[in-house]
Amino acid sequence: MATTADYRLGPHIFPRGWFMVAPSADLASVPLSCRFFARDLVLYRGESGRAYMVDAYCPHMGAHLGRNSTSYIVMDGERIEGENIRCPFHGWRFGSDGVCNQIPYSDQKPPKAARIYHWDVVERAGVIWAWHDAEGHPPQPDLLPGFEAWDHPHWVRWMIDDLGTLPQHPVEIVDNMTDFAHFSPIHGSRNIRYFYNEFDGPRQWQMFGAGHRTLVDTAEDLLELDTWYTGPAILQSRMRGSFPTHMLIAHTPVEDGLVQVWHALMVDMGRPAVDADIRAAHAYAQASADALRQDFEIWVHKRPCLHPLMVRGDGPTDKNRLWYSQFYRPLAEAADVHARLPRRVVTVDRDDEVGRRSAAA
Ligand code: FES
Ligand SMILES: [Fe+2]
Repeated sequence: MATTADYRLGPHIFPRGWFMVAPSADLASVPLSCRFFARDLVLYRGESGRAYMVDAYCPHMGAHLGRNSTSYIVMDGERIEGENIRCPFHGWRFGSDGVCNQIPYSDQKPPKAARIYHWDVVERAGVIWAWHDAEGHPPQPDLLPGFEAWDHPHWVRWMIDDLGTLPQHPVEIVDNMTDFAHFSPIHGSRNIRYFYNEFDGPRQWQMFGAGHRTLVDTAEDLLELDTWYTGPAILQSRMRGSFPTHMLIAHTPVEDGLVQVWHALMVDMGRPAVDADIRAAHAYAQASADALRQDFEIWVHKRPCLHPLMVRGDGPTDKNRLWYSQFYRPLAEAADVHARLPRRVVTVDRDDEVGRRSAAA
């Protein structure tokens, strides 16, 4: 398992940004224990239905706020009260801000240190997202995508595929953005018309147009995919075609060198979806998840790539890693990284397709 330091990405072990921590459907009225960023965490819903995430351990005597089934506090259903969560050990109660606001058996005011770290969390498009920043900067709302298709009646909403954890550093996943040369062998692309990347501050695009062994009808047909990262860990991809699709790949560090991955796909059926559309959309999502599993098989078995051995025809892996490193450095240094990146790197441009697309944009 290679770590952030092995890849020399920057001083922070975990990147700054928004990260998926759970599918919304996984969090019911019972608190959910999880682990990300090498920290044990607890997700819960207040009585309003709003989701919260706190560090797992109680400052009183260290009980885990989520992992309990036999305390009378849990059995009597007293764990959640309003927007507060109560510790199963001695019943200290913590508000949604993480501050202890009641000690049931003591006439003493809760001490100042009686607080648990409370994370900034947003629930959107069927996913619970948390902001992580080692420097403690406030969340950057513009780096959490809007996922507008989620609320459009023509789009069949995604169900989340949990691909589990991968014993790799997430940089190996992000490498896919510029890895032009894997599309034919791994994903079955052929007759590649164009492939280029654009770097824009905390965002990066991959524009790709190619034929495909099985997904298109004739050798001339083109699959066109615009794929982009918003921040370090949220990839979206739009495929044009008779049924436009919108894919999400979200990945979140569990430990330094271990990453959790999810996949999801929405499909635009061009009309308010009926049952048959929903079945068709789920078949599309399955095919899309299978394509990601082709990457996954490589990732599971590969050795960490600390120093890519690049040749002409590979995409700009070095630029991609430089772009990704901004999230491991202090926010104040991000602009320096941006200044060192080109606006666009073109790897393949047959018939001046890129020039025409730019003129049309
Ligand atoms: S350990 Fe949580 S209330 Fe005592
Ligand atoms: Fe891939």
